[in-house]
Amino acid sequence: MFEILKKTQFSEKVFEFRVHAPRMAKKAHAGQFLMVRIDETGERVPFTFANWNAEEGWIEFIFMVVGKTTQCLSELNEGDFIRDITGPLGQPTEVEGDSVAVIGGGVGLAIAYPVARMLCEQGKNVYVIMGARTKDLLILHEQFDALPLAGLFVTTDDGSMGEKGVVTLPLARLCETDSIDHAFCVGPVPMMKFSSLTCHEHNIPIIASLNPIMVDGTGMCGCCRVEVGGETKFACVDGPDFDASAVDWDDLAARQASYRGEEAVSTKRHEE
Ligand code: FES
Repeated sequence: MFEILKKTQFSEKVFEFRVHAPRMAKKAHAGQFLMVRIDETGERVPFTFANWNAEEGWIEFIFMVVGKTTQCLSELNEGDFIRDITGPLGQPTEVEGDSVAVIGGGVGLAIAYPVARMLCEQGKNVYVIMGARTKDLLILHEQFDALPLAGLFVTTDDGSMGEKGVVTLPLARLCETDSIDHAFCVGPVPMMKFSSLTCHEHNIPIIASLNPIMVDGTGMCGCCRVEVGGETKFACVDGPDFDASAVDWDDLAARQASYRGEEAVSTKRHEE
């Protein structure tokens, strides 16, 4: 059982939990993820480590309410317990180069943050591009702002904060001015797909942290299959990071939508 030490609400549907998990806190690396099961009959859902503290023995993860399980999770409070948390899982993030753009979209900013922090600690020039639909969905701005970044860019679809538009606008400028030699992206599939295309046009290698549906998170169920460079990979053990230019984005988008009908039914039942 894992106690919730702190609950933070970033927006109507985005929450952060700090959970007592000393063994996991000692082993976590940027880019790795954990699997959460709320109770004995619950499904297992993956979340990426947003933060951790080995000395104090806690980990943090951020999630958006998108269905029944995340709705149930959001209804838990400080002092409540989560039945199972398994991790760290997956391969830690590694990004080559001296000047790197870290692009995060929506709740993917929770994954981009520890990656940007790690790259700063490695002494690289780090440019962060934050993207969200609106200002209210733009999380962790203060935390990114506190990092020793070479540049911080914000875009929102509606222009309520930063530049009106999408993350590829500042990304293209960074590519055109030779400011970066590598990139990392995480967020919605279309955002990652078009970030990849933008980098590809300028011969900039880019890594994407993929977010397919997962069940066990340990390479046994095959649910997280992704097509990369014509090969089938399991995101939970081979990834979640892959060469973005080799990912079959349309296949990933289709697989992500596989259970949308069932998810809607389950959410409706929970609300009733
Ligand atoms: Fe089951 Fe990856 S989640 S194999």
